Amino acid sequence: MNKAKCILLSCFFISVSAVVVNAQPAGIPQRVEALLKKMTLAEKIGQLNQYNGDWAATGPVTTDVGNKLDAIKRGEVGSILNITGVQHTRVFQEAAMKSRLKIPLLFGQDVIHGYSVTFPIPLAEAASWDMDAIEKSARIAATEAAAGGVHWTFAPMVDIARDPRWGRVMEGAGEDPYLGSLIATARVKGFQGKGLGNLDAVMACAKHFTAYGAAIGGRDYNSVDMSLRTLWEVYLPPFKAALDAGVATFMNSFNDLNGTPASASHYLQREILKDKWGFKGFVVSDWGSIGEMINHGYVKDNYEAAEAAINAGNDMDMESRSYINNLAKLVADKKVSVRTIDEAVRRILTKKFELGLFDDPYRFSSEEREKRVLNKPEFIAAARDVARKSIVLLKNDKRVLPLSKNTGSIALIGPMVKLKKENKGFWSLDVGDESQVVSLYEGMQQQAGITKLLYAQGCDITDTSKIGFADAVKTAMQADVVVMAMGERFDMTGEAKSRSDIHLPGIQEELIKAVIATGKPVVVLLYAGRPMVFDWTADHAPAIVYTWWLGNQAGNAIADVLYGNYNPSAKLPVTFPRTEGQIPIYYNHYNTGRPPHADNDVNYTSSYIDLLNSPKFAFGHGLSYTTFKYDNIKLSKKSMLKTGSITVSFDIENTGKYAGGEVAQLYLRDLVSQPVRPVKELKDFKKLMLQPGEKKTVTFIINKDKLAFYNDKLERITQPGDFMLMIGSASDDIRLQDKFTLLD
Ligand code: NOJ
Repeated sequence: MNKAKCILLSCFFISVSAVVVNAQPAGIPQRVEALLKKMTLAEKIGQLNQYNGDWAATGPVTTDVGNKLDAIKRGEVGSILNITGVQHTRVFQEAAMKSRLKIPLLFGQDVIHGYSVTFPIPLAEAASWDMDAIEKSARIAATEAAAGGVHWTFAPMVDIARDPRWGRVMEGAGEDPYLGSLIATARVKGFQGKGLGNLDAVMACAKHFTAYGAAIGGRDYNSVDMSLRTLWEVYLPPFKAALDAGVATFMNSFNDLNGTPASASHYLQREILKDKWGFKGFVVSDWGSIGEMINHGYVKDNYEAAEAAINAGNDMDMESRSYINNLAKLVADKKVSVRTIDEAVRRILTKKFELGLFDDPYRFSSEEREKRVLNKPEFIAAARDVARKSIVLLKNDKRVLPLSKNTGSIALIGPMVKLKKENKGFWSLDVGDESQVVSLYEGMQQQAGITKLLYAQGCDITDTSKIGFADAVKTAMQADVVVMAMGERFDMTGEAKSRSDIHLPGIQEELIKAVIATGKPVVVLLYAGRPMVFDWTADHAPAIVYTWWLGNQAGNAIADVLYGNYNPSAKLPVTFPRTEGQIPIYYNHYNTGRPPHADNDVNYTSSYIDLLNSPKFAFGHGLSYTTFKYDNIKLSKKSMLKTGSITVSFDIENTGKYAGGEVAQLYLRDLVSQPVRPVKELKDFKKLMLQPGEKKTVTFIINKDKLAFYNDKLERITQPGDFMLMIGSASDDIRLQDKFTLLD
């Protein structure tokens, strides 16, 4: 097809696709069955096979298959991953169009926090507790990715993470199943937009199914050992939320769960996902995870691995080549039925039809659209907006922040000040160029007004040499205020980036000590992809701002917050430990039989003799430049039936000088229950904006859903009895409380 024809065709499909909404277009099941009938067994197996593209690898590349384009022409490949750009994808699609049945390829890519315009890392966005902003970020990522030829993102990662040593904590929504479920929903809706078939929608993928975030010791890829009740209570809810939001695909996980690798788990993939939950999309393995079952010691070779995975409901094989090399023989040996193969192929073909690829395999291949859609000013503005919303003000003693517009000079000190590309974070793509990224220095400069900026690097991120200290101290002495930009390298979190020591790396804390010793007011910014340990800084720095990795607009967003052009409103989606010895640490723990009466109560209580139980910064914590007063709690009644509900209302007043946003959080505790329930569980929250002096009434509805839990038989039940209701600004800052009873 020549280019002009192709553009014409694309235009035709733009107008057609604009009316496609979530519902599956008529006739797809029939078209799938008709195609299935024409396919040889080899062609069916090809559909279940996914190879890495030619440009980047996000895992160990296994054996060489020779020329991938030839394999595609032979109908041996259903999907290619790690491939971006209209030009590149088109080459592969053209090869697929030379195969006997011309079945189009699916192009998958890790579009995790933006495509060309890079957004904050997912954990940072989770700190915004702002579902609209999170959905918008995913929407923009999908719009750009689809314009760049991508059909499928391997996101969102919805794994709950209670262990900050685990490098992939950066890729999820933190530790809480309720918040995690809402964010899973927002991200799926964002990626899939008005539904597959629209030219700005990509298939989302809920990953990693499941319990990957509970790797023992926080070591990536490690085993997981947990009760099924914890699995259902804590780890599965965000997956169910993604499914309910219509997620097109699931990815299973590298870990074994209680001895069975997830890729071979019949319980997870067939019993729960496909049977109980009725999932209609398809399951892709993680990179090589089918073949890795040999290392697990679960199977002896790829033949057995393929048998275990396909029979357990794993539809597509990412990169392990177990399916392509073994499924035909497994069918001949009657170890795998054609029916099982057909079921997997059917699921994959259905998605290809829904995306409209059979109608036009090049509908995501318009170079004109790619140029037009990427990096739109409104996308950049949205990235700045969500970046500001993700910044957590951890501490602000003596109101060091916001910086006065009349400040004579600010010393910017630290290894992060002039970083550019690194601001994009671990899972960013090489799309777009470095000039799009705003460094802290540039962002501060743009809003500096009459303020003079001074700079000293002081040390590098993992330095052991103090050679730059003297210059840093001298620079600090010359300034009215010091802003220190410290943290861990952007690639110290992410896949295969677990750390046993999560302290602020190198000698950075010593540099902070040296600068604080000057007596100047010091603001410490912490760049990270996880909660870090920085005990001395937390106790001695007057102001601490957790910036995470914020993407392209990092410098502007941080400057907005420091200069007070944006009042921070983010809240931690994850607990910050005092030190590694407290890990795993999470707010929704059980009380135990010997809870300490005070934080330092070690008298035969469940405590450490050398460490407090409380975290350094609690789940839900985050300050504002203004103050909020909570008052006037009212319950519509003090008891309810299972079929009823209670309305809780209370007032929040902005009692400070700045307009600001607050996230009011509702926690519940089931006081007596069998099995026991956590000391506190987030059940609802509201984010609201208040002008100085303004007061608003907030209401929450408590119904059966908020009181239900899984019993030992994994049934979701409620038990009559008393509940404590807590409303606060953080899980450790409860401002109002009351009790109510669930009646029999
Ligand atoms: C392995 C990662 O675990 C997964 O999340 C990712 O989508 C694939 N590699 C593809 O890059």
